[in-house]
Amino acid sequence: MNKKILITGGCGFIGLNFVNYILKNKKKISLRILDNFSNKNKKRVSKILDAIGFKETDGCQIIEGDIRDKKICKKSLEGVDEVVHLAANTGVNQSMKDPISDLNNNILGTLNLLECSRNTNIEHFVMASSGAPIGLGHPPFNEKKLPKPISPYGASKLSAEAYCHVYSKSFGIKTTILRFSNVYGPYSFHKTSVISSFLKNIILKKQITIFGNGSQTRDFIYVDDLISAIVQSSRNKESGGIYHIATQKESSINRIIQILKKEFHEKEDYSINVKKLDKRIGDVQRNFATINKAKKNLKFKPKISLVCGIRKTIDNFIEYKKYL
Ligand SMILES: NC(=O)c1ccc[n+]([C@@H]2O[C@H](COP(=O)([O-])OP(=O)(O)OC[C@H]3O[C@@H](n4cnc5c(N)ncnc54)[C@H](O)[C@@H]3O)[C@@H](O)[C@H]2O)c1
Repeated sequence: MNKKILITGGCGFIGLNFVNYILKNKKKISLRILDNFSNKNKKRVSKILDAIGFKETDGCQIIEGDIRDKKICKKSLEGVDEVVHLAANTGVNQSMKDPISDLNNNILGTLNLLECSRNTNIEHFVMASSGAPIGLGHPPFNEKKLPKPISPYGASKLSAEAYCHVYSKSFGIKTTILRFSNVYGPYSFHKTSVISSFLKNIILKKQITIFGNGSQTRDFIYVDDLISAIVQSSRNKESGGIYHIATQKESSINRIIQILKKEFHEKEDYSINVKKLDKRIGDVQRNFATINKAKKNLKFKPKISLVCGIRKTIDNFIEYKKYL
């Protein structure tokens, strides 16, 4: 084994896809997951880890614990070369209900991990951020836009970004901050994002709900494209840099429904039942980001089309139907 990567939140949606990617493509990397199973999905996670070939004896290890626990973080970082920091409170709505819990997990958790990484041999620390620090404005967004978050989640991610920058400039840890757009793909069964919740409802024969007329747009990125950006970022020379990881394409909710109708048309068992409700207060109409900086510095190039990514995600959701 040449390199050891610690993945915090490795049992979540993006974490499991990252683990899958490394096991398939980078045989010489060993993996350690640190996750507190706050998503309460142990049974499903262990089924997925089995299916993707994560065996605890094979350079793969899981530590059940919390990123806010200093002892656990120190133990988790032993012998580690790179950190992919994904663990977080991930929902805007959840952060609105409990901003303090959001702060604790996303700011103090990140700070604890960074602090435990000081005076170690960590070569690179990647932090998962989001478009939420940016706040309102006219898309496309880029890294130069002054962040003005409008949710506690956005504020906590912005603060965590700032600490990554501090630890890069003052303590010499090479950090990279990746602002993910709307990620979709396999193993996202528990997520409440548009594509995941639509798919789950269709497969469970429930109605899907659109708020407003469906013309609102988002920048949907397939998880494998996102993972290529995480992997490429370790070769990047800049430390403390922020990069938007997106597709630079805006797709409306109506377009997603159109794709789903076409894809499910050939599957006899499923039909799509759409319920329309009033537009939600605070829902932005358009959202997408430019990726020129990531293209240039990380050689990032998203490859998977929306149709192809949705098709792969449908197949995965149907395969795991009994775990939805
Ligand atoms: N999914 C997206 O569309 C999206 C978009 C932007 C940013 N992100 C960011 O990417 C990261 C991963 O997101 P995801 O969609 O995989 O979320 P997820 O909820 O599926 O996974 C998060 C994982 O972190 C673990 N976790 C949470 N708090 C923890 C703690 N204190 N200690 C240890 N483990 C903890 C959870 O148990 C879970 O397994 C998050 O930081 C999120 O904010 C995700």
